[in-house]
Amino acid sequence: MLAEDDGDRGQLRDLVARRPADGATLRRAEDVAAGAARGPVVDELIARRARRQTTTVARMAGLGTARDAANAERRLRAAGFPTPKSLEEFALAQSSVPRPTYDYLASLEWVRASENLCLVGPAGTGKSHLLIALGHAAVSAGHRVRYLTAAELIELLYRGLADNSVGKQIAALLHCELVIVDEVGLAPLDATGTQLLFRLVAGAYERRSLAIASHWPFEDWGRFLPEQTTAVSLLDRLLHHATVVVTEGESYRMKEARSRRTTPKKKDE
Ligand SMILES: Nc1ncnc2c1ncn2[C@@H]1O[C@H](COP(=O)(O)OP(=O)(O)OP(=O)(O)O)[C@@H](O)[C@H]1O
Ligand SMILES: [Mg+2]
Repeated sequence: MLAEDDGDRGQLRDLVARRPADGATLRRAEDVAAGAARGPVVDELIARRARRQTTTVARMAGLGTARDAANAERRLRAAGFPTPKSLEEFALAQSSVPRPTYDYLASLEWVRASENLCLVGPAGTGKSHLLIALGHAAVSAGHRVRYLTAAELIELLYRGLADNSVGKQIAALLHCELVIVDEVGLAPLDATGTQLLFRLVAGAYERRSLAIASHWPFEDWGRFLPEQTTAVSLLDRLLHHATVVVTEGESYRMKEARSRRTTPKKKDE
């Protein structure tokens, strides 16, 4: 046993001795040099290590950033945002979103906790802007995100029904940490559409984050989800762990249009 141990250690000693001047060898060389005047060989070894370390760090940093940037770019394309919107562009003071709620949403803590977000409010009150901007922030933070309107989602899943791939389609969507479904309730769903939406919500429940926007307060969801029982079960799951934000006020589009009309144009415009 002893002999074996000694054999192992001997092999390791040989291995270390045979290795070219690496960090450990150089450290030893530095220790030696610390007590005595450094000879030119030690100086050269130290300089060589410094050069090598700098190059390695630079190379790793370069590769890391390039790879990270390429991955973020790929995730951004896969997310399918219709327009670029950012949190920086969102004028919080002009919205009805309370600052603490906004800060919580911008922290993306809810995505990490697989919680949901429901934005409810009339046209032009910043629902899509917030959804896209938060989705964008989630992509930048390294999450996989997918944006669809409810109409696109139902069309996708209906096609899945036709070729028997609906389970696969839902699984593919739920591969993302955050699935955004905008414009829920803009078009009414039939019984099959309601079932399909339910399957997504049920699949995401406590596993993934769903962020949705709708014009309709929840009590009115029966208007576009004809199956009452499914609608109730769907909302029950959607709202169990969810931040609900009611966006109120005048349409931002209207406000902008009015200010454009009232701001006189400069000569060269
Ligand atoms: N608080 C805000 N700060 C900056 N831009 C805003 C704000 N709210 C809305 N906007 C801008 O106003 C326009 C309309 O907003 P958005 O599309 O988010 O509204 P919406 O609530 O989704 O409306 P709809 O229900 O009709 O889809 C967009 O160009 C958006 O960037
Ligand atoms: Mg919208």
